[in-house]
Amino acid sequence: MTVTPVKPPTSVKHEVKDLALAAEGKKRIEWAGREMPVLRQIRDRFATEKPFEGLRLVACCHVTTETANLAIALKAGGADAILIASNPLSTQDDVAASLVVDEGISVYAFKGEDTETYLRHVNIALDHKPNIIIDDGSDVTATLIKERQDQISEIIGTGIVRLQAMLNDGVLSFPAMNVNDADTKHFFDNRYGTGQSTLDGIIRATNILLAGKTIVVAGYGWCGRGVAMRAQGLGANVVVTEIAPVRAIEAVMDGFRVMPMAEAAPVGDIFITLTGNKHVIRGEHFDVMKDGAMVSNSGHFDLEIDLGALKGKATEVTTVSNFTEEYHLKNGKSVIVLGEGRLINLAAAEGHPSAVMDMSFANQAMACEYLVKNKGELEPGLYPIPTEVDKDIATLKLKAMGLSVDELTPEQVKYMNSWTEGT
Ligand code: ADE
Repeated sequence: MTVTPVKPPTSVKHEVKDLALAAEGKKRIEWAGREMPVLRQIRDRFATEKPFEGLRLVACCHVTTETANLAIALKAGGADAILIASNPLSTQDDVAASLVVDEGISVYAFKGEDTETYLRHVNIALDHKPNIIIDDGSDVTATLIKERQDQISEIIGTGIVRLQAMLNDGVLSFPAMNVNDADTKHFFDNRYGTGQSTLDGIIRATNILLAGKTIVVAGYGWCGRGVAMRAQGLGANVVVTEIAPVRAIEAVMDGFRVMPMAEAAPVGDIFITLTGNKHVIRGEHFDVMKDGAMVSNSGHFDLEIDLGALKGKATEVTTVSNFTEEYHLKNGKSVIVLGEGRLINLAAAEGHPSAVMDMSFANQAMACEYLVKNKGELEPGLYPIPTEVDKDIATLKLKAMGLSVDELTPEQVKYMNSWTEGT
C-alpha cells in the first residue's frame, strides 16, 4: 500500500522543495549522525554551554545529511541559524525539509535552483543580519564585502575557499578562520572524502568500469591525491597534470604518469579537474580528445572545464541520463560532460562520507566557538585553526574509533628537549 505523505505545518520560514519529504530526511540525517561522533560530542557540550546564545548565524553550505548535523549542533549551542545552499545541484531536498519541520531551522535551498534564486537566497541570508557566517565558497562573504559594508563590524566568519584571496586584496575586514588548513580537515576530507566520493559520483552517473581506463587527474593537491590513489586502486591507469614542480615529482614517485594537459587530452578516457583554478580543460584540449571522452569536475566552482568553449564546438547536446550530457562536436567526435561540470561528488552522489565530514564540521563548529570567545581580541584578518583545536578533534576521533596512542615517557621528553644527549 502506498502512503501519501502529508505536508506538515510549520511557521519556520523556508524555501524548500517539499516539506512532506521531512520524515525521509530525518532518518537519513540520523544515519549520517552515527558516523559523526566528534560532532555529536561537540553538540552535547554546546547544548549545555550555549556558546552562541543570542547570536544570529548563516551557513552557506551543501545541504546534505552531514551539514544537517552541523546545523543541529549550532542550534543546540543557541544559534539562531539559517541555512542556504552553496551549490544548485548538491541540495538533498529531504534533508532541507527535515531541518525545517523537525529542527525548526530556516532553510532556503532546493536541488536545481537557478543562479537568480541562489543570489536571492544569499540576500535573504544577509537580511538575517548574521553575527556569524559559515561560508563554504565565500559567496555570502563576497556579497557582504561588495554590497553590505554597513553590516561588517558585527561579523565573524569561517570558510574554505577564497578567504585568502580576500585577505591578499585587503578587503577581509572582519576576523575569519580558514578551516581548510586544519590538518583534521584537509588530510581527511580533501584526500579520503574527495577520493571516494568523486569516483562514487562518476560511477553513479555512468556506471562505467574504471579498471583499465586512463583517468586524467588535473591537480595533485590533497583532493587530487585522493582521487588518483582511489582510481589506481580500482585498476585505472592514472595520469596527473600539475603546474607545481614539487607536486609533480610527488605524483611521479607515487607511481603516476605526469604530463601537460595538451599531452593528456588525447590519451584520457575520463578527466577529473581538482585544481581550484579556471579553464583547466579548454577548447584546444576538447579538439584532440578521444571520441566519447568524459569530463568531470570535483573542484569547488564550475569553471574548471571551459563549457563555453565546448558549447561553441558542439552541433547538438543530448541528455543521456541524469548528470550525463553528450556534446556532439563539429569534428565528428563527442565529449561527455558529467554533472554540468559542477562538483560531481555532490551532484551525482552524496558528497564526502559522514565519517570525514565529522572532523571537517567539528572544525567549523569549534572555529565559530573560538571566534565568539575571542571576538574582542581579534583584529580583522584570517586566522588558522589553533593547533590545540586540531589536536582535540583528532583525539576525540581516535577515541570514538576505539583507538589510542602512546605517551612520551619522562626520559623521552627529556631527550626531545636536549641537544647534548645521544652524540
Ligand atoms: N562537501 C563535500 N562533501 C560534503 C558533504 N557530505 N556535506 C557537506 N559539504 C560537503
